[in-house]
Amino acid sequence: MAEVTVTKHGRIAVATVDNPPVNALSHAVRSGLAAAVAQADADPEVKALIVICAGRTFIAGADIREFGGPMQGPHLQDLVNDLEASSKPFVAAIHGTALGGGLEVALACHFRVAVPSARLGLPEVKLGILPGAGGTQRLPRLIGVEAALSMITEGNDIAAAKAKAIGLVDEIIDGDLLAGAIAFTEKLLDEGRPIRRTGSLTAKVENPAIFDETKAALAKKQRGFKAPLACVDSVRFAVDYPLEEGAKREYALCRELMQGSQSKAQRHAFFAEREVAKVPGLPEDTKVRDVKSVGVVGPGAMGTGIVMCFINAGLPVTLVGLDQPTLEKSLGTMRKIYGGNVTKGTMTEEALEARVGLVKTTTDYTDLKDVDLVIEAVFEDMATKKEVFAKLGKVTKAGAILATNTSYLDIDQLAEVSGRPADVVGMHFFNPANVMRLLENVRGAKTSPDVLATVMKIGKTIKKVSVLSGVCDGFIGNRMLAKRSREGMFMLEEGATPWQIDKVLYDFGFAMGPYQVADLAGIDIQYAARKARWDKLSEREHQANIVDQLFALGRYGQKTGAGYYTYDDKRKATPDPYVEDLIVKHSAARGITRRTIGDQEIRERLIYVMINEGAKILDEGIAARPHDIDIVWLTGFGFPVYLGGPMFYADTIGLKTVYDALLKYKDLVGAEFFTPAPLLERLALAGKGFYSK
Ligand code: 3HC
Repeated sequence: MAEVTVTKHGRIAVATVDNPPVNALSHAVRSGLAAAVAQADADPEVKALIVICAGRTFIAGADIREFGGPMQGPHLQDLVNDLEASSKPFVAAIHGTALGGGLEVALACHFRVAVPSARLGLPEVKLGILPGAGGTQRLPRLIGVEAALSMITEGNDIAAAKAKAIGLVDEIIDGDLLAGAIAFTEKLLDEGRPIRRTGSLTAKVENPAIFDETKAALAKKQRGFKAPLACVDSVRFAVDYPLEEGAKREYALCRELMQGSQSKAQRHAFFAEREVAKVPGLPEDTKVRDVKSVGVVGPGAMGTGIVMCFINAGLPVTLVGLDQPTLEKSLGTMRKIYGGNVTKGTMTEEALEARVGLVKTTTDYTDLKDVDLVIEAVFEDMATKKEVFAKLGKVTKAGAILATNTSYLDIDQLAEVSGRPADVVGMHFFNPANVMRLLENVRGAKTSPDVLATVMKIGKTIKKVSVLSGVCDGFIGNRMLAKRSREGMFMLEEGATPWQIDKVLYDFGFAMGPYQVADLAGIDIQYAARKARWDKLSEREHQANIVDQLFALGRYGQKTGAGYYTYDDKRKATPDPYVEDLIVKHSAARGITRRTIGDQEIRERLIYVMINEGAKILDEGIAARPHDIDIVWLTGFGFPVYLGGPMFYADTIGLKTVYDALLKYKDLVGAEFFTPAPLLERLALAGKGFYSK
């Protein structure tokens, strides 16, 4: 089957791209389109050409799988120039998403029409590159520099109506797209409207300082990423140079980024995100259970966020709490958050009411009798959760899925007390649940395949990235985090300060260091978690009790104005000498001679200990693939996307480097903490990586 077919509708030729699933601009599509353009140009009977797509979307971009290898001609850069140069009007007819190279094709056409549901954008920046086929040159010429800069540097797509309003789309087609596009083109021809080549327009800039201002803002907002800054440089070419020269410079910048480590990592993240949706051993056609209504038990911060995830997707939720005031408080929190959107103008009052109206609050568990899925989000305590699961097993209907939001506890014990272990699964959300993209689903020993398939699918419904983990202490994410936190505590005892450790992780690319996070989340919360896991901690961890000392002092973090740091009334943090003194005294009391610890040691001990734990998680089958670990850390724990996740990063620096460092720290800190995982050792000594076993 040809990827591009041309049919004639009177004097109009229609080139239809058909390259499932997303009509990416593979070599075959580029060749087919180039041939269609040549054919339309050469055929005297053809007066105009429409480019349209079969399937679910317009062209969604270049074929990312071709990146990194030699690109076979015809090149997209030549194709768009040929499209634009034609003396016959070319019209792009858009449905679904016109993204990246797809929008670049549309920009090179002389006119664009779109159905109301279409979305248009240049998301290349999210792959660590910039639009390399004229996007940064033509978009500012068509819609102005300011609007183009924001679309290109942020990479977000816009709706057809907005695209029409800013001049990116010429006409919205209600009804059949092809028929509408033909009618539009016939009218063009009848009126003898001149061809409008985007490339021959002038890119106007109202505020010449916009480039520097945008760069300064991006350096903060997208700290560490190279592509956004390069996008700004490239848009500037559109102002400084004629199209041909600007496009040449754009392409050179794009190639440079494409070959760099950031883009490789970001492309890895793109495909890994899609890979984790496929669960090995779970056939893609596994029948899922119908989920039309949801119950949430526990109206605390997590429960409230979880409720919002579902009502945002239009699903009604029954929220169970111990008493009316806590339920009212939860509703109040939702109203406050949505209210912020109303103030910003991104939500109407009616929409707010409609959303909150989907929540039914109750103190009676029997109100859960008809729901299809219940998520328990009560206090992190096994006895409390067991009580809840025993009740849920009785009050819910047969076939209802019973999920727990536990972060650490053994799901199999909850499954047993429910009396319906096949229906029980973990759905671990991250705080704030309505914001964080990660959903770590946890497979119990007896969870049935259709329950797993259902919770993986629900993730997509509520716009989360679902990753499947096996049962262990902390699952994928928190298990690795616990090791990093432990190393941080040990280094505090050995000579580091909280602010030094925070800065090392900030410089590595995390938005905040662990002690800034602790102060934000609450030392009291950390203390409770530490107590809950006390039996699982080593002797040295028991003794590294700085959290306990801060807790005893009532230094709970930001909420009390002091934790590791002190806070002013604007919540600005300042390192506190009192805490440094407390730590120094602690070291002395423990008989540890403090030493200067360099940033490299801090970085290696914090990151490599996680990589080592990741290797164990893989070896034990808790994560099926390194992709699952990377996505957990990229979407749930703020690992810098341009490093691709801990396992990808380990491969980038080389497992032998990590292995040698682990041996070094094994001697320094102890075999209990730094013995290399067997998988890591095997791979490192064989010169392989997690992704090249
Ligand atoms: N190239 C290759 N494969 C792609 C692709 C692309 N541009 N876009 C999507 N795919 C693949 C996915 O990997 C997935 O494959 P799988 O089924 O084997 O896992 C399949 O297509 C379906 O993708 P999604 O699961 O993401 O489907 P959705 O319906 O959820 O989303 C989409 C569709 C919005 C188009 C989304 O896939 C997307 O955002 N794609 C990337 C768009 C993009 O970044 N375009 C720019 C590319 S770079 C470029 O054009 C450079 C140019 O300037 C020179």
